[in-house]
Amino acid sequence: MRVLQDKKKLSGILSDHRNQEQNIGFVPTMGALHDGHLSLVQRALKENDLVVVSIFVNPTQFNNHKDLKKYPRTLDRDVETLESLKDDRVLIFAPAVDDIYGNAVTSEKFSFNGLEHAMEGKFRPGHFDGVATVVHRLFQIVKPRRAYFGKKDFQQLLIIKSLVKQLKLPVEVVGCEIKREADGLAMSSRNLRLSRKHREKAPLIYEILKESKVKFGTISAAKVTEWVEARFAKIAALELEYFIIAEANTLNPVKRKSKKKKYRAFIAAYAGDVRLIDNIALN
Ligand code: PAF
Repeated sequence: MRVLQDKKKLSGILSDHRNQEQNIGFVPTMGALHDGHLSLVQRALKENDLVVVSIFVNPTQFNNHKDLKKYPRTLDRDVETLESLKDDRVLIFAPAVDDIYGNAVTSEKFSFNGLEHAMEGKFRPGHFDGVATVVHRLFQIVKPRRAYFGKKDFQQLLIIKSLVKQLKLPVEVVGCEIKREADGLAMSSRNLRLSRKHREKAPLIYEILKESKVKFGTISAAKVTEWVEARFAKIAALELEYFIIAEANTLNPVKRKSKKKKYRAFIAAYAGDVRLIDNIALN
C-alpha cells in the first residue's frame, strides 16, 4: 500500500491519474480506522478509479487540548486495516501538522448560515472552523471528484456540503449511512477509549434514539426531549450533553411538527471522559 506524507509527491501522482481521465475518490479521516471508515473506502472504490484516504489528526478542530492529546494515533494499524481490502487503488496520505498548516496552526473563519452554531458548534466552539479549514486544504491537495463522509457526523456533513457550495468546489459530497456495532453503538474511533463499564452502557444511546423515534410519532418534540433527559438521568454511566430534535436540512430545532419536513434527533453524551455522538432520522 502506498503511504505518502509529502503533498507535492501526492499531487504529482494524482495529476498523472487525472490526466488519464481517472476519477479520484477521497475519504478524509483522523485515523484509528474501523469498519465504518472501511465502508466509506469500499463505496469510494466502487464509484471511482482511485481512492485517497487521508489520516490526519487535525489540531484546529479540537477545542479541548486534552481531547486532542488523547485522540488515538494508530498509523501502522490503519495501514494494515486498509491493506486488508487488498486493492492497490487505495493511496494513503498521512501528512504532518506543518505539511498542512506550516507554522500557523490556526483555522480560517467560516460562516454556514447558522449551521455552525447549533449542537456541536455550540458545545465545541471553533470546531467547524477547524473542520472546514482542514477539509478545504485537503480538497485543494487531493482535488477529488467525490468525497465521502459518514452521517454519524451529520452536522459536519451539512457543513461540508455548504462549504463546497459556497466556494464552488468541483467535488460531489457523498453522505454514507452510520455503521454500528452488533449492539447498536455507532462506530467511532473514540470507542477504543471506552472502559469496559462505559462500553457496556454506551449502546443505550442508540436504544434511546430508537425509542425517541417511536415517541416522536405520537408526542411533541418537547415531550420527547423531557423523556430522554429523564431517561439519561437514571443512567449513572452516561451524562447527556444535549438531545435535540431538529429539521434535517437547517438543523433548526423543531417548534411545531410539519409532515412536509424531515427531522432528525441528535445526542451528545459522555461515557466517562469519552464524548460520543449519534443521531437518527425520525420520519
Ligand atoms: O470526521 C472526521 O474524522 C474529521 O472531522 C475530518 C472530516 C477528517 C476532518 O478532520
